[in-house]
Amino acid sequence: MQSQSHRSDARTLGRRTLEQDHRHLAGLLRPGLSVLDVGCAGGAITVGIAKAVGPEGEVVGVDRDPNQLESARTHLPEHANLRFELGDAASLTYESHFDIVTSARTLQWTPDPGAAVAAMARAAKPGGLVVILDYNHEDNGWDPAPPAEFQHFYQAFLDWRQAHHWDNRMAEHLPALMQAAGLVEVQSHLQDELTQRGEAGFPARTSLWIEVIDSVGAQLVEGGYCSDGELQLARSLYEVWVRTELLRQTLSMRTVTGRFP
Ligand SMILES: C[S@@+](CC[C@H](N)C(=O)[O-])C[C@H]1O[C@@H](n2cnc3c(N)ncnc32)[C@H](O)[C@@H]1O
Repeated sequence: MQSQSHRSDARTLGRRTLEQDHRHLAGLLRPGLSVLDVGCAGGAITVGIAKAVGPEGEVVGVDRDPNQLESARTHLPEHANLRFELGDAASLTYESHFDIVTSARTLQWTPDPGAAVAAMARAAKPGGLVVILDYNHEDNGWDPAPPAEFQHFYQAFLDWRQAHHWDNRMAEHLPALMQAAGLVEVQSHLQDELTQRGEAGFPARTSLWIEVIDSVGAQLVEGGYCSDGELQLARSLYEVWVRTELLRQTLSMRTVTGRFP
């Protein structure tokens, strides 16, 4: 199994913001702080971090996908305090450099998240914070229950992830990984993403699963986790069900913080 066999959908990544989609971090930022954002993708959240720390601050976005970085450099407005670098979470070269080292929705795609957390801890200054937001995919839920065909797709998605050693309970396992990396004052903060029918963000937030099907569906079919027919049926039934029946979607998430002593 190769580790770089997944790319998230640009529609999902592009609409994210610091304030909505990395809320705990937003509350920690102050002008003048230096921040490393690991798995920054196209920088939609990273640019919010740069604004929050202001011109006296320093922000570096790191991603292992050069296409994401190219998109960040091309499409984002320029900020003198913000730069993007190619790199892997598990082999960051920074030592004792940043006030805050963060990642959002990234370690869920890493087969060795322990190595990534250790490298992130090393990149933090003494007294600095590591702030990691991630999912417990096994606890994501819908009310009422989705069509059986979509549930079949979702199980295939979990099985495909597990076969790649991508943790379906990443958020739950972060505190132990942080402690093993020598971080102290480790705390886990509930950060579920809840969206209800009638709210402005409901159509966009529930289209996440259409975008997941579009971005990784071919790999599920290739790997034998479901057929193309099953995938397309799940997609179309889910679309109709979201428009007519879905009341509430919960993405189970935690932000886990730890201090480098
Ligand atoms: C789901 S996106 C999340 C992007 C953004 N942080 C957000 O919350 O919207 C995950 C990103 O992490 C990157 N990524 C995954 N594993 C990585 C690793 N080991 N090192 C660096 N980047 C990684 C992917 O290329 C992708 O851009």
